[in-house]
Amino acid sequence: MRTIEWVDGHVDVVDQTALPQQRRVALRTVSEVVDAIRRLVVRGAPALGAMGALGVALAAARSAERGYDPDTVRADARRIAGAHPTAAHLSWAVQRVLPTVARGPDAVLDVAQALVEADVRACATLSRLGAALLRSYVGDRPMTLHTHCNAGALACVEWGTALGVVRALHADSLIRMVVVGETRPLLQGSRITAVELARLGVPHQVVVDAAGPGLIAGGRVDAVIVGADRITANYDVVNKVGTYPLALAAARAGIPFVVAAPTATLDPDTPTGAAVTIEYRDPDEVLLVGGWRMAPAESAALNPAFDVTPADLVTAIVTESRVIEPSRGAERTGVVHAVTVPAMRMVGAY
Ligand code: MRU
Repeated sequence: MRTIEWVDGHVDVVDQTALPQQRRVALRTVSEVVDAIRRLVVRGAPALGAMGALGVALAAARSAERGYDPDTVRADARRIAGAHPTAAHLSWAVQRVLPTVARGPDAVLDVAQALVEADVRACATLSRLGAALLRSYVGDRPMTLHTHCNAGALACVEWGTALGVVRALHADSLIRMVVVGETRPLLQGSRITAVELARLGVPHQVVVDAAGPGLIAGGRVDAVIVGADRITANYDVVNKVGTYPLALAAARAGIPFVVAAPTATLDPDTPTGAAVTIEYRDPDEVLLVGGWRMAPAESAALNPAFDVTPADLVTAIVTESRVIEPSRGAERTGVVHAVTVPAMRMVGAY
């Protein structure tokens, strides 16, 4: 079963706000697509890419019902691309489909579906490459990995990025334990990652986010593996808030911090993480737990949804075609987040 697919003229998605309850929703209009992205009904970088591509196909199909107007479709595409400013995959996919808008709705759908299929293949390939890389770092023995948020099949179309790597290692009996950060405030770790691992039969333990760095410092983790929402030109990694403390702890403990992401997540047009728009979400996500307010009425909250891990803390970025080791090639220029990488060391190319 796919997280997102085209069915009879609409986009059918798993409602990720309802998980662990299983619910699928049909998105039939561009406004429903934009709303689904904003409310995290559809979330996770590769799934957002698929949503972007199929969303433009949906815009084209709806326009065709009123007498096809490419300009309306292009305007709808811009609305879709702007619905999640942090995720590179979304605008990347919309840009890939846009040139076909002039050729009509069938052409748009063909290109969108080809993009989705390519993304599924990319995630499967990078999962195998990431597993081989972790074996080379940790050794050929069962390992304990720490992950954060959800970078599994539900964040993608079918396979997963960071959890795809876990799946590939598990298939070779090389996972001793996966430590899962619960991922406050929306609990993607507990509600989504833990559910995926349970279904796959992978041993795992959910921890509060604040526990991760201490567990790493205490020698209980062999490597950190996460996905990414955007990777800038200098290889700064933008991912779910709480990723950066894990990278700091991993660097201090001398264990690998590995990022698994398809090439579409790499954004060569944004120089560093400092230039990325970090989405701030509703303060009530922090202040309320299970509908109950935990802090006094006069307390405000700050709710950044993502953070930036500087490239020099990243041991490796694994895509479907290469492995980049930013921390080996990085030279600090003295400005926070401004890291130049003169020569990347490729340790694998598929
Ligand atoms: O707010 P979310 O749940 O969309 O955040 C998602 C993440 O940060 C994931 O780690 C990321 O999309 C990796 S994609 C496989």
